[in-house]
Amino acid sequence: MKKTSYLAIVVLCALFATSSYAQNDTDFWSVVKNRTSVRQWQDKPVAKADIEDILRAGMSAPTAMNKQPWRFLVITDAKERNALADKVGRGDMIRKAPAIIVVCGDMSDAFPGDARDFWVEDCSAASENILLAITAKGLGGVWTGAYPTKRSQEIHDALGLPENIVPLNVILFGYPKDTPTPKDKWKPENIHWEKW
Ligand SMILES: Cc1cc2nc3c(=O)[nH]c(=O)nc-3n(C[C@H](O)[C@H](O)[C@H](O)COP(=O)(O)O)c2cc1C
Repeated sequence: MKKTSYLAIVVLCALFATSSYAQNDTDFWSVVKNRTSVRQWQDKPVAKADIEDILRAGMSAPTAMNKQPWRFLVITDAKERNALADKVGRGDMIRKAPAIIVVCGDMSDAFPGDARDFWVEDCSAASENILLAITAKGLGGVWTGAYPTKRSQEIHDALGLPENIVPLNVILFGYPKDTPTPKDKWKPENIHWEKW
């Protein structure tokens, strides 16, 4: 092989190894296993196209009767994040996270009666898809709880949300500061086969 061809291959391999494609592990099982809560981020913005992909994953989740009662508020602007951080708990993390998604339920799209709380399951399914998509993109995120605690109302009021909109959680994400280490949570004793 010519020296120049050899050099070209080496350069191409180096480019591939450092590209975001190579860094982002998009194999399903790797993404599921690598997802872990990340609470510290680099001071580096997340591209809007990536956030849209992440939201697309969220909206791919199943919902009761396909109601899709979810609404998402994306905040990347530091001024807006700081304003929210000043008014609600976990403010320090909100301030430092380059991007946040407030996952909300729209009560005007929720079921009447005892099926009302299906919105929580619907929006939780979307939230997990969002966290997996964040991982697949080589980003790291954390779900911070809101509903059913009083933090939900605090976030609602701090953001001036419409009356029918209830925040379920705030997902904070960005490029991880350190390499995240997922926990091993496999416990066969939590499984019952055929009969309890
Ligand atoms: C409903 C819910 C609420 C959570 N609230 C918070 C929170 O307020 N602050 C936080 O740092 N992490 C929060 N987490 C993340 C959990 O602490 C985390 O998922 C758990 O410790 C397991 O770790 P892992 O995500 O790395 O597997 C929450 C997770 C869920 C599902």
